[in-house]
Amino acid sequence: MYKKIPVGLLGATGLVGQHYLKLLKNHPRFELVFQPARERIDAFAQAKKCRLLFSALPTDVAKDIEVEYARRGFPIFTSAACHRLDDDVPLIIPEINAHHLDMIALQQKNRGWESGFIVAKPNCTLQSYLLPLYPLHRRFKLERLSVTNLQAISGAGAHYKLNKNIIPYIPNEEEKSESEPLKILGEWDGRTLHPPSLTISSHCIRVPVQHGHLACISASFKERPSLEEIVQIWREFKGLDLPSAPKQPLHYFEESDRPQPLLDHLCGEGMSVAIGRLRECPLFDIRFTALSHNLIRGAAGGGLLTAELYIEREHETFKEL
Ligand SMILES: NC(=O)c1ccc[n+]([C@@H]2O[C@H](COP(=O)([O-])OP(=O)(O)OC[C@H]3O[C@@H](n4cnc5c(N)ncnc54)[C@H](OP(=O)(O)O)[C@@H]3O)[C@@H](O)[C@H]2O)c1
Repeated sequence: MYKKIPVGLLGATGLVGQHYLKLLKNHPRFELVFQPARERIDAFAQAKKCRLLFSALPTDVAKDIEVEYARRGFPIFTSAACHRLDDDVPLIIPEINAHHLDMIALQQKNRGWESGFIVAKPNCTLQSYLLPLYPLHRRFKLERLSVTNLQAISGAGAHYKLNKNIIPYIPNEEEKSESEPLKILGEWDGRTLHPPSLTISSHCIRVPVQHGHLACISASFKERPSLEEIVQIWREFKGLDLPSAPKQPLHYFEESDRPQPLLDHLCGEGMSVAIGRLRECPLFDIRFTALSHNLIRGAAGGGLLTAELYIEREHETFKEL
């Protein structure tokens, strides 16, 4: 029998923060006990009642404050981009690279932190294509990837406006969607991360859609898979046994006009990737489209799932009678 774990949330008033609040409301393992307002973001003494913190702060704010909390002993699960590529910070999609959480020990050693650490979740647009590509990569070795990300308005935060327009540039987003997958798919040998031999080219475009990033993907592998094999692998890809994990992380639509952000952004309660239009490609081996909810799988839901994974692995520390 478990007691709920007291947790805190930094940035609760933002779009990601609001999704954390909804998902934490009836969470079976976490109880929200600390959500400082903007001007009290450094209320370290009040945070003492938390066993861990979720951060939904903008990168420029998160950069120092997250380090300060971690230095003072708090585990931080962050949605911000600032620490994602640090050599000793795990960048986690739980179904893909749970074992990268072992980096925490190195991080604490490197930084002289006793119980605090930072774990990051990746850029919101990545999950739409990395989750379906991961089981294919495991079997056929992904070598080249071209992806165009059509990103929803809510990906840009509460204050962003887009009036029936398309903006063909999102600052730093293409760099993130080309570099972060190499870390996530990398092999961690306990000291060093070995990235796969994979070339990625990405376009990131803001489109007038409220929620859900849709990716158009072309990919080539060392060994060319058949379309039937791919659909079967996606259908057989199992979810994790954790409260926020979808039973079926990958949902393949046979209909040729799916997935659509409006209809499918809540696939698997926003935690599954909706996939469609798998076909052969004249330039690469295959092509398909995939959609994931930027604020749930891509942010708050992904952060919760990562923390659930962490406490499951450290269950002796968190077990209470
Ligand atoms: N939106 C997405 O789909 C998405 C997906 C994945 C990751 N992310 C990342 O998640 C983080 C939050 O994104 P968001 O879309 O929720 O942004 P947002 O709507 O702009 O919310 C930002 C939050 O940070 C607070 N904040 C801003 N400046 C602050 C300061 N100087 N001191 C203390 N608090 C401050 C805001 O408080 P006030 O309300 O008081 O201003 C608000 O709670 C960002 O790092 C973003 O890159 C976003």
